[in-house]
Amino acid sequence: MQKISVKGGKPLKGEVIVGGSKNATLPVMTAALLADSPCSIQNVPHLNDIKTMTQVLGKLGAKAELKDHKLSIDPAKFDKFEAPYELVKTMRASIYSLGACLARLGEAKVSLPGGCAIGARPIDLHLKGVEALGAKVTIEHGYVHAKASKLKGTTILLAGPHGPSLGATVNVLMAATAAEGTTVIESASIEPEVTELVDFLNAMGASIEGRGTPRLVIHGGKRLKGIEYSVLPDRIEAGTFMIAAAITRGDVTLKGAEISHLTAVSEKLRQIGVLVEESDGGLRVRSAGDYRPADVWILPYPGFPTDMQAQIMALLATVPGVSVITETIWENRFMHVFEMNRMGADIAIDRSHAVVKGVPKLTGAPVMASDLRASAALILAGLVAEGETLVQRVYHLDRGYERIEQKLSALGAEIKRLD
Ligand code: UD1
Repeated sequence: MQKISVKGGKPLKGEVIVGGSKNATLPVMTAALLADSPCSIQNVPHLNDIKTMTQVLGKLGAKAELKDHKLSIDPAKFDKFEAPYELVKTMRASIYSLGACLARLGEAKVSLPGGCAIGARPIDLHLKGVEALGAKVTIEHGYVHAKASKLKGTTILLAGPHGPSLGATVNVLMAATAAEGTTVIESASIEPEVTELVDFLNAMGASIEGRGTPRLVIHGGKRLKGIEYSVLPDRIEAGTFMIAAAITRGDVTLKGAEISHLTAVSEKLRQIGVLVEESDGGLRVRSAGDYRPADVWILPYPGFPTDMQAQIMALLATVPGVSVITETIWENRFMHVFEMNRMGADIAIDRSHAVVKGVPKLTGAPVMASDLRASAALILAGLVAEGETLVQRVYHLDRGYERIEQKLSALGAEIKRLD
């Protein structure tokens, strides 16, 4: 199995180009199934999650092909409605096939995602949404089976105990485009990836009002056609490179980063003492002077993203003083703490809080990645640790970062992939 070797101590310097957003591409891929002609999607990152979604579309009878960074999706033969366990278990975004299959075929069968390393991942809000639109839902043999001879618009509140749900908003949005009449989603997720899906569907011919707000109004039943589209930059990849610059006390310019999607991350870094400035076509991140500890609350967008929790923890582990990180989205998303502590960090967990006592130095060690963002955080820790860090289970990383080791080594990091 492949490993990533990082030798710490080099301040990163230079420019890096931010790729297309994984989390925006995945919903857009399933939404392309709703069109009556092919879609061509540009700026698509080469990632294992995108490959997995290509396989999901294949299982549904559609054709999806990624060349360079352009993805062509032809839904002409989309006539099957089952997303199997083998694919859903490797990538939970496969659940988006629920909304797309219901909309186009009136039936969907999707393996239940179950839990994963970051916590229980319920789908009750997804089911509440499609049931409200008129689908009959049964759960049997580990699969959700939803059927509707006709979907009908209604008002649906999608708030859960942890706030809005990205996934449920995506599924209900897609199903609602096929519903008769008007659907109102209250407490919709306002993550940029949802706004991207709204823009994509509207460009295909849908009629959705309220983009970027928690109240989306969908006038269903419009004919949707294939379009050409370019996906927005990945805010989590950008945020990860911002922390790479900060943790190594470097000076990095991120080309193509969408600054307005990174407000919470920029603000927190500034509070810590990192200089974050808009630069021509991007964002410049550099260190000047000492860093201060910080309290970080992980909240739904526009709050500090859960997908950046592990990375900011790596940074705070190196900042003198006591920082507290509170995770409100995923109750079990602290698996990286134990690995960081093996590198000399001093982090304790108390329920949803991580108490991070900054240490003067981290030391390289063999470590195990437990999920996608945890693996990025261990690489970040490795960039400043004394000696070599060997990150194992790199397959997590390859789900969400394209050529991360090449991008980091172009900035001066000593990093390589080992077979
Ligand atoms: C979530 C994140 C998203 C991130 C992704 C992967 C939020 C709001 N969403 O999206 O930014 O990219 O994880 O890390 O930060 N929930 C329910 N019932 C449901 C669905 C969700 O109670 O039917 C709860 C979840 O347990 C969780 C919260 O709502 O606590 C947000 O979940 P949701 O946004 O649906 O998860 P993802 O779509 O995976």
